[in-house]
Amino acid sequence: MKKIFVTRNWHVEAVKLLENYFEVIVWNKKSIPTEDEIIEYSKDCFGLFTEFDDKITQKIVNSSTQLKIISNRAVGYENIDINSAKLNKIKIGNTPGVLVETCADFTMGLMLDLARNITYSNRAVLKGDWKTFNQTPYLGTDVYNKKLAIIGLGQIATAFSRRAIHGFQMDVSYWSRNRKIDFENELGLKYIDNINDLISSCDYLSIHCSLTPETYRIIDKEQFMLMKNVKLINTSRGPTINQDELLVALKNGNVESAALDVTDPEPPDYNSELVNHPKVVITPHLGSGSRETFNKMALMAAQNLINVHENHEMVSEVIID
Ligand code: DGY
Repeated sequence: MKKIFVTRNWHVEAVKLLENYFEVIVWNKKSIPTEDEIIEYSKDCFGLFTEFDDKITQKIVNSSTQLKIISNRAVGYENIDINSAKLNKIKIGNTPGVLVETCADFTMGLMLDLARNITYSNRAVLKGDWKTFNQTPYLGTDVYNKKLAIIGLGQIATAFSRRAIHGFQMDVSYWSRNRKIDFENELGLKYIDNINDLISSCDYLSIHCSLTPETYRIIDKEQFMLMKNVKLINTSRGPTINQDELLVALKNGNVESAALDVTDPEPPDYNSELVNHPKVVITPHLGSGSRETFNKMALMAAQNLINVHENHEMVSEVIID
């Protein structure tokens, strides 16, 4: 039987499925495997089942001579040296689609949190600051009927917009690399072809674009300076915003509060001003993290491995140009 290495011991159902096809080696330690450990465990493996923070380096790819597939339980695959994989004719699988609604729910949760100062007021309660009935330090803003700006209209942002429009009657505008006329017609979204115009008149701004050289720090000093009391949500990738400039914008009132499910780096420095800022809510890259979706992503990653083994098309293959 061919061997595969699963880099965490979280995926009972997926491992059970994989055991019908492979000898499955599961990483069982609390720490995540280091580069050398991955090399040791994947020496004669046909496939790897990886998580988003396993760095699959050139050294790993070159040392795993039997390797045919790296199946990443994530949509993103920045953790994999894709050029080395391509040179070694190793396929890469990922898990898009199944996480869309779950991530949209989470984004909605972050927006509501910022709107009504949920985490901000909870921090105060934890410090013992609830002495009398006094809402005034924590008065938030409505979501209903407010202006939401979206950067990057992929599947998650579309699902999020649906919630915002149908559930909260928000006025939603977006900028995206590709204009999506169908969704504009279906949902009444407005397309704005200039990011600076989009962000200068919104109450809430949610970032959904993938990280590319063009979207690196797509929100930088210039953009922050145009904002007025914006509540900023980032569930895409940390480097899409300049975090130092975010702190300045919080001080100046350009940004009222921020909810970051992604940071640069991840995890962030616990002693940093960003982590300790009372108006910044940071969650540990949890957008897709419902029990149901966690499992669906694992099963999809398992199926990608099985399909390559059976010479079938993967459920989702990353095509490397
Ligand atoms: C993804 O799927 O790319 C997430 O950001 C990590 O789970």
